[in-house]
Amino acid sequence: MKKKIKLFDPVIDSKEEIAIKKILRSGFWASGSGIGNVAKFEGKFNKYIGSKSCVAVNSGTAALHLALSLANIKNQEVILPALSFVSTANAVLYNGGTPIFVDVDPKNLCINVESIKKSITKKTRVVLPVHFGGIPCELNDISNLCKKFKLILIEDAAHAAGSKYKNKKIGTHSFAVCFSFHPVKNLAMPVGGAITLNGNVKRDDLEKLKARRWCGISNRNEVNYQVNQLGWNYYMNEFSAAIGIEQLKKLDKTNMKRKKTARRYSNEINLNTKMPFDKNCSYHFYWILVNNRQRFMKKMKENNIETGIHYYPIHKFSLYNRNHKLPITEKISKKIVSLPIHPNLSESDIDKIINCVNKFS
Ligand SMILES: Cc1ncc(COP(=O)(O)O)c(C=O)c1O
Repeated sequence: MKKKIKLFDPVIDSKEEIAIKKILRSGFWASGSGIGNVAKFEGKFNKYIGSKSCVAVNSGTAALHLALSLANIKNQEVILPALSFVSTANAVLYNGGTPIFVDVDPKNLCINVESIKKSITKKTRVVLPVHFGGIPCELNDISNLCKKFKLILIEDAAHAAGSKYKNKKIGTHSFAVCFSFHPVKNLAMPVGGAITLNGNVKRDDLEKLKARRWCGISNRNEVNYQVNQLGWNYYMNEFSAAIGIEQLKKLDKTNMKRKKTARRYSNEINLNTKMPFDKNCSYHFYWILVNNRQRFMKKMKENNIETGIHYYPIHKFSLYNRNHKLPITEKISKKIVSLPIHPNLSESDIDKIINCVNKFS
């Protein structure tokens, strides 16, 4: 059988296997009673990013839910792109807010700053940009807008572990930044996520996040504890944390490999509409736009190359069904295809992907 080129593929070696075995045998699998890998991962990720503090949780979705819970968005509006994974918007609903979807910039598919400006109302409380595919959004402009209109900036950096903006890692620029460590992500775990906090973070915010990730529990002292707010069971587990510690050690190297492949795609794929090359991007995926997507994906599949669609626009799902008119998002989402760019691709895999894209697009 011919080898299939997968769309996503985590980079693992014996280090992850050893770490997993150690936890399995310790019998301490949960973080509360565990052997400290969650706290260790939090410290290491915080240091890697350069953020003020970090709270590890069990998914990017949980990170978004909890980060937005600090912003009191009930009956308030949150501005976000519709071109994202549905969790970005779900997190607004979990907190009783109203998502206001805006269009993206056709060059890099990140949120369009002019569209944010036009959508600000008296009810706007948060701007929630997504670093699409790992390309950093225009954070200076967005942050200036937020300052001017007294809005809170919270970033969805699910794709952007290791991306940079103005020489600083994504995760350091705003109040709260949300990461996903889903198995397909650049830093992969079985399940996992994190929130990094920066700037004028109150001790109270950090305590709130820590309580909310574990059933509202605070002031733990041996077997005693207090519960003074509602929380969820969002704790990261020890297995994920131990894998994350190993994944973090190789993140810069694996991101560099992704970047090298992106450079080849942007030079050698004969399409005008494709993801731009950006040395600050983590390249979680690489997108192209094709006219006949169904045919193109079928041909790629016949050639054992897996491709994907990121994303169907959220405002079109029946749960949301908003009357937003987002011409660029709607046009792009009919043509967008993601190509494999993970670090396990060989040079001959990359040759084959480029040849097939040029032949079938
Ligand atoms: C942009 C974006 N936001 C949020 C999430 C949610 O992360 P998780 O799957 O870890 O809950 C994802 C994950 O796929 C994502 O791509």
